Amino acid sequence: MNMLLDIKDLHVEFPTQGGVLHAVDGVSLTLEEGEVLGIVGESGSGKSVTMMALMGLVGFPGRVRADHMRFAGKELLGISDKARRALVGKEVAMIFQEPTTSLNPCFTIGFQLMETLRLHLHLDRRTAKKRATELLEQVGIPAASSRLGSYPHQLSGGMNQRVMIAMAIACNPRLLIADEPTTALDVTIQAQILDLLRELQKERGMALVLITHNMGVVSEMAQRIAVMYAGQVMEQQRVDRLFANPQHPYTEALLAALPERAAPEGRLATIAGVVPGVHDRPAGCLFAPRCSYVTTKACNVRPALRAVASQPGAEVRCHFPLGEPGRMAAIEADRPRQQAVEALP
Ligand SMILES: Nc1ncnc2c1ncn2[C@@H]1O[C@H](COP(=O)(O)OP(=O)(O)O)[C@@H](O)[C@H]1O
Ligand code: SF4
Ligand SMILES: [Mg+2]
Repeated sequence: MNMLLDIKDLHVEFPTQGGVLHAVDGVSLTLEEGEVLGIVGESGSGKSVTMMALMGLVGFPGRVRADHMRFAGKELLGISDKARRALVGKEVAMIFQEPTTSLNPCFTIGFQLMETLRLHLHLDRRTAKKRATELLEQVGIPAASSRLGSYPHQLSGGMNQRVMIAMAIACNPRLLIADEPTTALDVTIQAQILDLLRELQKERGMALVLITHNMGVVSEMAQRIAVMYAGQVMEQQRVDRLFANPQHPYTEALLAALPERAAPEGRLATIAGVVPGVHDRPAGCLFAPRCSYVTTKACNVRPALRAVASQPGAEVRCHFPLGEPGRMAAIEADRPRQQAVEALP
């Protein structure tokens, strides 16, 4: 397998009135050609900003630094926006939650699709029109040729999302980044859009990064999942193992919040508290204020991301991973818990 994406120790910071916001705090991710990676975490975890940094879309005053950030072996750090567009513009495509952020309300969808094809693939008008129709057919738009003349506002949310996907795959990208592609849609349409993404990914063998705050969405699509929290990857491993044997307490809590894992009386577990902001970013483990296993050590020492001995390829950022032998004894020895909690900011 060839490495398509290789991000090492990425940091994205935004200066704010109250101090520096660490939106992405040391994220490392890799993706092989044709692989599907799910990035999961609550809103505000840094999922979108990580991918925006890759695309060169973090504007001033945001600061981006990393050890390296490579796409198909090419270094993207420090190159100009123009050079980056030339490198990744055709090979990486991104779709967003709101089709309206990428579709222009003033032009027909046919015009927008054809412009993309003419610009990137230098197709003539007739070929572009034929190709645009084929693309709309591929994304499941009925009566595709008669839809070319429609404006975005004449289509439903689900249909516009299909058009967005058609635009994204128009240039045969090697990597598609789908950022909460179904969050704005109702449940039946969500399933249809996910099915479509899955089909296109398989047919074309393209790599896919699927970003979502919903664990259920990635369970059937991703091969690997990175769980993000407060700008850090907390756990990263194969999807089946992550669901069967989560290693991080945050992953465990996200899984417990899935409707199908609810207790028989039907109550959903929720994670109390919120993702830390500029003022309440803990000195130790970022999840400590919300973790039911918090200890004195966790409050003082930020855990590093490390390999999980029992699960090859898995990584976890926790002093006491769930699968580690002797864990509860170690936690007990490192309490008193109440003091640890009171010491938190
Ligand atoms: N342009 C920006 N300026 C300042 N803060 C930002 C900007 N973009 C994102 N953020 C902040 O960065 C953090 C991570 O955001 P984001 O990556 O969008 O989270 P997610 O996609 O996981 O919901 C959030 O606290 C968000 O408010
Ligand atoms: S290091 Fe401690 S507080 Fe942090 S997630 Fe692990 S058990 Fe919880
Ligand atoms: Mg987001």
